[in-house]
Amino acid sequence: MTIKKEYYKSLPSTNDTAKLKASNGAPEGTLIIAERQTKGRGRVGHTFFSPAGGIYMSLILRPSFSDYTVITPAAASAVCRALEDLGFDCGIKWVNDIYLTGKKVCGILTEANVNEGWAVLGIGINTICPGKDAPDIAGWLYDGETADNDAVTDAVLYRFTEIYENLPDIGFIDHYRKKSCLKGRTLLINGYEYKYEYIDDDFGLVVSQNGKTVKFKSGEVSIKPL
Ligand code: BTN
Repeated sequence: MTIKKEYYKSLPSTNDTAKLKASNGAPEGTLIIAERQTKGRGRVGHTFFSPAGGIYMSLILRPSFSDYTVITPAAASAVCRALEDLGFDCGIKWVNDIYLTGKKVCGILTEANVNEGWAVLGIGINTICPGKDAPDIAGWLYDGETADNDAVTDAVLYRFTEIYENLPDIGFIDHYRKKSCLKGRTLLINGYEYKYEYIDDDFGLVVSQNGKTVKFKSGEVSIKPL
């Protein structure tokens, strides 16, 4: 995939700009990068706090395969690998968050139009401290005022391209499972407690309660504190 970067000072949401461009025929590999977002979006209607200093980017994809649900876990594994390359031992919190020492440093939001044959992969990374207005859960990679965001961006794109070019082969699932930060933990889902069991071959979360297993295909999970 050839990546063509388009830089913006500020956008409401890089995903929204990328979706519009994808719908208007922009090629695979078009990457929308903004220094800040005024309406950064997360999954299930959440906002993604996006002040200047972090990485906010959306990549247009035109997958050759039909099941786009694999893109988010592929990106989670890729970000985790890229951050490993840079010396950070991160974990993946199913399905789309990257954590470092108990704090969320990256969120991923994939949006797609299967009929039009495109997907937009949005990635937000707190490279530096997002400031006092950030949600409590937010962490960051580097202490200090600035970080080499170009280097982090390129590391992520390199690792993502590596995985994406093999999709729909899900060979990366071993890494995804290995880096799951839910392993061995008690989870809270929809107000109920479950024990983590495993991530299945569809990237579903399999948990158990009183010896009975349940599979979640999507949803919000919190980890019960130890
Ligand atoms: C989440 O935490 O649920 C996902 C957050 C995804 C944030 C990224 S930042 C770049 C892109 N543009 C957005 O509005 N959201 C994604």
